Order: sequence, then C-alpha cells, then structure tokens
Amino acid sequence: MQERTTTTGSGSGGVASTAAGIDMVDVDKTYPGSAVKALDDFTLHIDPGELVVLLGGSGCGKSTALRSLAGLEDIQAGRILVAGDDVTGVPVNLRNMAMVFQQYSLFPHMTALENVEFGLEAHGIAKRDRRSLAMGRLELVGLSELADRYTQRMSGGQQQRVALARALAVSPRVLLLDEPLSALDAKVRVQLRDEIRRIQKETGTTTVFVTHDQEEALAIADRIGVMNHGRIEQIDAPERLYRRPATEYVATFVGLTSRIPCVCEAGFASAFGRRVPLLPGSTDHGPAELLVRPEALEMVADAGSVPRRPGARGRVAAVHFLGALVRFDVLVAADDAYLPESSGPVQVTVQMASDDAAAGVHAGDEVYVAPSGMPSLAVPADRR
Ligand SMILES: Nc1ncnc2c1ncn2[C@@H]1O[C@H](COP(=O)(O)OP(=O)(O)OP(=O)(O)O)[C@@H](O)[C@H]1O
Ligand SMILES: [Mg+2]
Repeated sequence: MQERTTTTGSGSGGVASTAAGIDMVDVDKTYPGSAVKALDDFTLHIDPGELVVLLGGSGCGKSTALRSLAGLEDIQAGRILVAGDDVTGVPVNLRNMAMVFQQYSLFPHMTALENVEFGLEAHGIAKRDRRSLAMGRLELVGLSELADRYTQRMSGGQQQRVALARALAVSPRVLLLDEPLSALDAKVRVQLRDEIRRIQKETGTTTVFVTHDQEEALAIADRIGVMNHGRIEQIDAPERLYRRPATEYVATFVGLTSRIPCVCEAGFASAFGRRVPLLPGSTDHGPAELLVRPEALEMVADAGSVPRRPGARGRVAAVHFLGALVRFDVLVAADDAYLPESSGPVQVTVQMASDDAAAGVHAGDEVYVAPSGMPSLAVPADRR
C-alpha cells in the first residue's frame, strides 16, 4: 500500500492530504558538459509519511537527487515512482510536490498571508477558500499573529516559516526541503528544525530533507541516507547509522571516530590489548585500523601501576569540557607495546560523563586507554 490519507491542521485550516511513498530506481543524472555523474545508479525507497534526510559532503548530489525527484532536472536513466505511479517524464507542476530552499524566495512586498494565498491561487484554489486555508497553515507554523506583516520586515526564521506554510498550503504529496535552515543562526536553526519535525508528523507528509549537517540529520530523521559520489552509501535509522556504520565513509562522516591499529581475526579485532567484535563490512583478517567512537573508549588514570585490564599508555594532550560530557585527546607514543613497529604515534579521542573521575584528569597526565568492546568497523590501514 503506497498511499495513506491523513487530515491535517486544526480548525478552519484542516485539509486532507495523501502521503505517498517514493521510489527512485537506478537514476543517472549527468549535467550537460560535465564528465561526472551527479547521480550514479541512485536508488532510494521512502515509505508514506516518512522523513528521510539526505546527508553528505558538498557536491555529492543531494540537491540533484531532490531536484530530479521534483521534476526540475531531466534524468538520463532510471525511474521515479510516487505512490506507485511512474512520474519519470511528468512535468514539475503535475507532480504535486512542494519545495523549500535555503533562500526564502518569498515576495517581500506581500504580507505573510498574501504569500501563502499566492501559492494557493497558483494551484487554482477558489478565492473564497484561500484565506482560511492560508490562515490555517500560518497557524500550523506558529505565525498567525504575524499574518499581516510584510515578509521583508520579518526575521530569517520567520520568513522560512512563511515559506514552509506556503509549501504546505497545497497539501503536497511530498515535501522537499533543500538545506532550509542553513541561512539561520544556530539557535533559530534548532528551534525551526524541531518545529519542522513536529509539523511533518502532524501532517504526515512524506518528506525529503537535504543537509550537510550531521547533527541536524540525526535529530530530525526517521532514516538518514548518507550520500557519496552520486549514490546512497548507507540508509538507516539515525541510531543504527551511528552505531553500525557500513563503510569507512559513513563511519567518519557521521560522528567522531578514532583510528586504532588492530589485528583482525574470526570476527574480532585485537586493539590496545582488548577484543572488539567487528561490524559487517570490516576487514576480516590481519592488520587493519579500528574506527572507534569516543564513548566506546575507556580511560583510567595511571597511578604508576598496571591497570586491572590491558590498555595502551598515553598522555592527555587536551581536555575539552562540554558541560555534561568531557572529551580528552590522548596521544599514545609510537613505541607503545600495543602498536605495531611501523606505527607512528596514535591520537585518540575519549568521551565520558563529566563526573569526579573525569574532573581528576588533566592535560599532561599519563593514562591508560582501550576500546570498551562496542562493535566497530575495521578498515584497511593503508586507505587513509
Ligand atoms: N547546473 C549544474 N551544471 C553542471 N554541474 C552541476 C550543476 N549543478 C550541480 N552540478 C554538479 O553536480 C554534482 C552534484 O551537485 P549537487 O548540487 O547535487 O551537490 P550537493 O550535494 O547538493 O552539494 P552542496 O552541499 O554543495 O549543495 C557536483 O559535482 C556539481 O558540481
Ligand atoms: Mg545542494
């Protein structure tokens, strides 16, 4: 079943919208005059009502994926289906999708209400229905008080709310957001991000949200698709993506990782004297590097004695106090017994709760560090 109907909004603004599933299958896109594919066998399935974030570095094809889905770009190969219907050649205005960009793209000489009404007029909604629909949408984004203000007299965050209200006014089957928050300052960004998620859940609108900000992605998504070179390298729920990265690119793009020389055998790595289960996709045999999250490293102060459990000896190079958490950069010298002959010094990042134990560790202190045993990815050492 690819469609689901929900009644959205409150009071006079309520409109029925139909959430649609999306399939992009083996899509290729090359821009004229370009030698590289912006999308290369790009495949993505989205369930009705789901919010999927496309995350990736600059130029990996996020906007192209969104624009191709919207019908703003021609594609050279592949198919695009919405609610099971093939829309591959269908023009943009017949796809019933709405898009919000980084730039607010509002009419500055119109009020918030007029901007939203304009969008409805463009979709042929009768004049008598426009006002109440538009007001309902402004209410949804928390702007009913400012309905009569010119958008040029609004803050960036308020303008982006108007843009969102305008996009949602026509009850699109799919909402597409291309870095909608990147022009806003940090605090407004977080507020509006949470607001977008609330509205998206309330309206049940199938949504694709593009960002290169991993924190934003982790906070808002049902699933995150990490893109690299025009395709999705891994798509998973935020927590799974963070805990079980499938590739080196995903592991290093999402979250912090330290690289520890290790030796792999039979599904386990030996690193700094500890045994760590390996994630699927890991190097399965011989010397490699283990990618370890900062909270998956243990650190004990060196009181001049051997610790209860093995670990490499290091020196604290820096302490970063983050409030509830503290991060330590620890340098393990090249001649540590747990490092191979060929290794230089290794720096790892350890994170722990900022309790009394953490407060007792200072820059310059000698410590023992070791992975705590959280399953991790091992990658060939020479890939760096
Ligand atoms: N109009 C265009 N003409 C030619 N090449 C383009 C055009 N738009 C994008 N590209 C190229 O296609 C690739 C993907 O671009 P795209 O804009 O989709 O990346 P992105 O992931 O959205 O990046 P960013 O995070 O910088 O917005 C890049 O190599 C880019 O240079
Ligand atoms: Mg882009």
